[in-house]
Amino acid sequence: MKGIILAGGKGTRLEPFTKLLNKHLLPVGGHPMIYWPINKLKEAGITDILIVTNNQHLRSFQEILGRGEELGVKLFYTIQSEKGGGIADALASAKNFVEDQCIVLLGDNLFDDDLRPYIDNFKTQPQGAKVLLKEVKDPERYGVALLDEVNHTIISIVEKPKNPTSNFCVTGIYFYNKEVFDLIDLIKPSSRGEKEITDINNLYINRKELKYDILKSWWLDAGTHEALYAANKHYFEKKDIQKAT
Ligand code: DAU
Repeated sequence: MKGIILAGGKGTRLEPFTKLLNKHLLPVGGHPMIYWPINKLKEAGITDILIVTNNQHLRSFQEILGRGEELGVKLFYTIQSEKGGGIADALASAKNFVEDQCIVLLGDNLFDDDLRPYIDNFKTQPQGAKVLLKEVKDPERYGVALLDEVNHTIISIVEKPKNPTSNFCVTGIYFYNKEVFDLIDLIKPSSRGEKEITDINNLYINRKELKYDILKSWWLDAGTHEALYAANKHYFEKKDIQKAT
């Protein structure tokens, strides 16, 4: 299975730094932010990784990460046609990279869970897609999943709802079959002008083809100044614990 990391977008919540530097290259725990999702894929045996970013930032990624030799992976790059066109729009640029199934990570999603069991499980899923959820205190900031826990299915996902119906946030860890690219062609940009990944996931729900699992460990969307601080704290404290043991 191949991996895709989406690292476009405008990063407005991390201005002024993102006026100059791509969000996913900002420092986290002594590395560029994107190092952590790359490492998670590598740990799970996924070494062919496509990074989707903006035209403006492509060279910075290539200069900092190269082809991935130092990280022990093979990095490929492509450009999202419209800067800030939405997560699904960014994913569309990965069409030619994917053969069958793929794992897609949002480059600002940082987490401790090992991806391998989720990947192994998705490989046995005959069709459709899978999302990973996390219980959070502030669901209104995210895509929120309403669950039918008895039948282990998702009833619906609402993007940034004012009145969330659950505390289960849809994290930026997605598994798709190749059909995702046909579904992206079907959707229109939302009222905020973005092709929403939540619309894609709801199309899979309508087809009864969206499975889910719940992350067990630490997870963070590092897209704000406060979250970037929390991410740095997490990784530096982890390093201290490792040094002390
Ligand atoms: O973090 C999880 C949340 O991520 C989900 O719960 C939401 O359903 C999902 O829409 C997303 O919400 P955000 O508001 O956090 O999305 P954001 O605009 O910050 O984009 C997240 C990442 O996606 C970003 O780090 C890079 C990538 N992206 C985003 C956009 C809008 C692109 O590559 N291109 C884009 O045009």
